[in-house]
Amino acid sequence: ADATGLTAGLLRWYDRHRRVLPWRAPAGVAADPYAVWLSEIMLQQTTVKAVVPYFQTFTAAFPTVRDLAAADRDAVLRLWAGLGYYARARNLHACAQAVVERHGGVFPRSVAELRALPGIGDYTANAVASIAFDVPVVPIDGNVERVLTRLHAVEEALPGAKPRVKMIAEGLEPSDRPGDFAQALMDLGATICTPKSPACVLCPWQEPCAARRRGDQETFPRKTPK
Ligand code: ADE
Repeated sequence: ADATGLTAGLLRWYDRHRRVLPWRAPAGVAADPYAVWLSEIMLQQTTVKAVVPYFQTFTAAFPTVRDLAAADRDAVLRLWAGLGYYARARNLHACAQAVVERHGGVFPRSVAELRALPGIGDYTANAVASIAFDVPVVPIDGNVERVLTRLHAVEEALPGAKPRVKMIAEGLEPSDRPGDFAQALMDLGATICTPKSPACVLCPWQEPCAARRRGDQETFPRKTPK
């Protein structure tokens, strides 16, 4: 299949099966950048199931980025207790303050400006830009790497294969729905294209998937032997 066909197939699947998540706007509705950013920070190294109640608590306590910026750091850390990786909570607070001080309390829309904020790396900058603002960039995490190395049966091992994965992602990126495309890749990796026993019979890419054609989908991404 060509890139247009692949992208269309994935988006059609997403329209039918998209997960309802508290930070996700309903289909066709713009997402709240604050909610997208908060969820992406919480989801680093943490499962969706663990994040959901914390996300609810935080948005109830701090409905806007200004409320979070104005909060006591200790109050933020107390609400974070149990989620782990506490540097994330300190950066979260610092980032909220930077959004208020540098950008008047409005999240910037460009990848470069997002990337310059505390705690925002390449992945998170691309996630917020695409999901909240439909900037045509792809956030690449381990799930997306797994999906795309399987789709193309990428023989090179990670991390060496990262530039190739980025090229594949950029070649598929639709200009009309970048945010949905990013979230569709995430959902596909989380629910179908799982590390063990992927549910290929349910996959919108079962036909074009090079790894599935060979029958060795579980062996991707390749890893360098230790
Ligand atoms: N994992 C990381 N970001 C996510 C998102 N926006 N939706 C679902 N799972 C995710």
